[in-house]
Amino acid sequence: MEYDINNYSTWLEIDLNAIRDNTARIRQFTGREVMAVIKANAYGHGLIPAAQAANAGGATWCGTARVEEALALRRAGISSRLLVLGYTPPAKVPEAIAQNITLALVDEKLSEEYLQAAARIGGRLHAHIKVETGMGRLGMRIERIPAFLKRMQDSDLLIDGIFTHFAQGDEVGCAYTYDQIQRFNQLLADLEAQGIKPPLVHAANSGAIFNYPESWYDLTRPGDVLYGMAPGPHTPLPAGYQPALSWKARLIMVHDFEPGHGISYGARYITEGKERIGVIPIGYGDGFRRVDGQQVLVGGRRVDVVGRVCMDQCMLQLDAVPNAKPGDEVVLIGRQGTEEISVDEVAARWNTINYEVTTGLAERLPRVYLND
Ligand SMILES: Cc1ncc(COP(=O)(O)O)c(C=O)c1O
Repeated sequence: MEYDINNYSTWLEIDLNAIRDNTARIRQFTGREVMAVIKANAYGHGLIPAAQAANAGGATWCGTARVEEALALRRAGISSRLLVLGYTPPAKVPEAIAQNITLALVDEKLSEEYLQAAARIGGRLHAHIKVETGMGRLGMRIERIPAFLKRMQDSDLLIDGIFTHFAQGDEVGCAYTYDQIQRFNQLLADLEAQGIKPPLVHAANSGAIFNYPESWYDLTRPGDVLYGMAPGPHTPLPAGYQPALSWKARLIMVHDFEPGHGISYGARYITEGKERIGVIPIGYGDGFRRVDGQQVLVGGRRVDVVGRVCMDQCMLQLDAVPNAKPGDEVVLIGRQGTEEISVDEVAARWNTINYEVTTGLAERLPRVYLND
């Protein structure tokens, strides 16, 4: 689709080449199949375009959190294998069967309900068992799994995969992660001893891909790194991976204020001397947090956000860029000239992680796709 950024006062640019290349890199690095984790609107990047780009980069599976996300992918014509990683209500089983969507079996009783729902329509449901090895979230207890799998043999639950999730995959050399791997391996060995070999075994998220090659198994499940974000403070983004997302806006007003002029709600910022103050049309309603001490890029320079961030606007101190004028491009995340503000920098300001920054970018922000 053609976009004219002149139509927008603020927008996200998503470089689909970056998602394609990052996916291809993971595939090449691990030599395993890739499940692109594209839940939560592909971490804010846009569900359908991100899935298409990841598939073009070699992903054979897409992983979602909810069945609604998987159904949206099917409606968009995406034909790759789909796994719903999270909880699915049993009432959704008929649709999952009809659309060839694989569900996670996160609980024994719930799985029995899936089986009954499949039986009611005379269908067979593809499913992967989620194993609780230490995340304490979703998953079946290890000791229950061999008997459960035996019971399900020849049933209408086609269990063609088994997986777990790490609590600390982004920590290097972490005893807790080695314990999780060991528990999972022990289960796989016990199953094999009973003649059970799930066709697809998977565990590694982005951090584990780089820190625990022994957890690659048959397929890896990257999310963060697909979008060119660092998997964690101890696992920086390796060379070659490219950030996919930039956040831009235009200066919409420039004021020359006299000394003593209050800026924004609460008038907590008062101009000291004559000051040039710019306005950009973004605020906490777009996912830009209402915290002090923020910076953006204007004219290739860092400038301070001053005064309270409002719902739809915030103000900039423009003395460092005296030529700045309405219409100029402002970068909140991304590059301008030689300067860059990374998602991680924003996450640090907000005392959170990069995942929360991009998933919190509001729906009302237009997403402009580059290299479609
Ligand atoms: C079950 C599961 N697998 C894989 C991922 C991808 O993780 P990451 O974005 O750290 O690669 C997630 C994301 O939280 C997840 O919940």
